[in-house]
Amino acid sequence: MNVASPGATALAVVTGSSSGIGRQVAILLARRGFRLILVARRLDRLNRLVADLGPAANARAMVVDLADANATAAAADQLASEATVDVLVNVAGFGVCVPFLEHAGSLDRRLMQVHYFAPAALIRAILPGMLARRSGQIINVASIATKVGPWGHGAYAASKSALVAMTQSLASEHIESGVHFSYVNPGIVQTEFFDHESFASMAATVKRRGISSTAAARRIVSLLDHPRLELCIPRHYRVLDWLYALSPSWAHRLVARSSRPAGREATVASRKSKVASRGVRQS
Ligand SMILES: NC(=O)c1ccc[n+]([C@@H]2O[C@H](COP(=O)([O-])OP(=O)(O)OC[C@H]3O[C@@H](n4cnc5c(N)ncnc54)[C@H](OP(=O)(O)O)[C@@H]3O)[C@@H](O)[C@H]2O)c1
Repeated sequence: MNVASPGATALAVVTGSSSGIGRQVAILLARRGFRLILVARRLDRLNRLVADLGPAANARAMVVDLADANATAAAADQLASEATVDVLVNVAGFGVCVPFLEHAGSLDRRLMQVHYFAPAALIRAILPGMLARRSGQIINVASIATKVGPWGHGAYAASKSALVAMTQSLASEHIESGVHFSYVNPGIVQTEFFDHESFASMAATVKRRGISSTAAARRIVSLLDHPRLELCIPRHYRVLDWLYALSPSWAHRLVARSSRPAGREATVASRKSKVASRGVRQS
């Protein structure tokens, strides 16, 4: 089957479809004629989307907390046993902007679960069927943070980097299988992602520079027509590849300066001076 022009029974699973990018991806896939399984935690939001899409879309909600490994495994089993999935779009995720030493290890584990272990479990359930049919597409939404190491994103970027690395290897392992693999690196997209209190200090101008979730979703869904391994949204973020190739240190200094929220330098300086005043040697 050609996933770009699906038949009446083609099925897509979209995680994170209760809001933001995932919701828009689901809407665009429905317009292309896909039946949909919509995955997220907020049933009311999923039900609203099902209603907005109308009965012709043949969409149904699947409530799963992807931070819960057991719930994710149960959902993966259900998908493997009852559905023939043609397209899987792993969009679900969340962000925080907190320096590494200021958050607990439990956050690292939650980020890894939602951004790596959950997509991995769904792929293990769904990919064998795609390979057997020699057709299908898996799209994993990562982040531009995987390329640049912005301030406050250590654990987040690490978890998204794991997703990128897995996608790259899957693409190598199944290069002429008829199944396509992509990872997507969005920059700033205006969604509820930034509602987390830790983004409060992020300059409003930075947030305003973001693109709409509709524009992001359009690019993601275009991967069905033109499959490729990596997609940067917006396109000009690819310049980062060139900057890092030219001078990683210079590029990194640029990112460090531009991603640090106002006021954080003062905190670092005062901590240093406190340490110095206690007479503790600094390396
Ligand atoms: N917005 C950006 O600038 C940006 C930049 C780079 C990458 N991204 C990535 O893009 C993806 C979509 O984010 P967005 O911007 O569209 O933000 P969003 O509007 O907050 O959407 C996040 C989606 O993920 C779902 N989700 C979060 N945690 C979940 C969990 N434990 N179990 C199941 N579903 C969960 C949410 O649904 P429920 O809350 O209903 O569960 C929601 O549908 C994320 O992976 C994010 O990391 C976003």
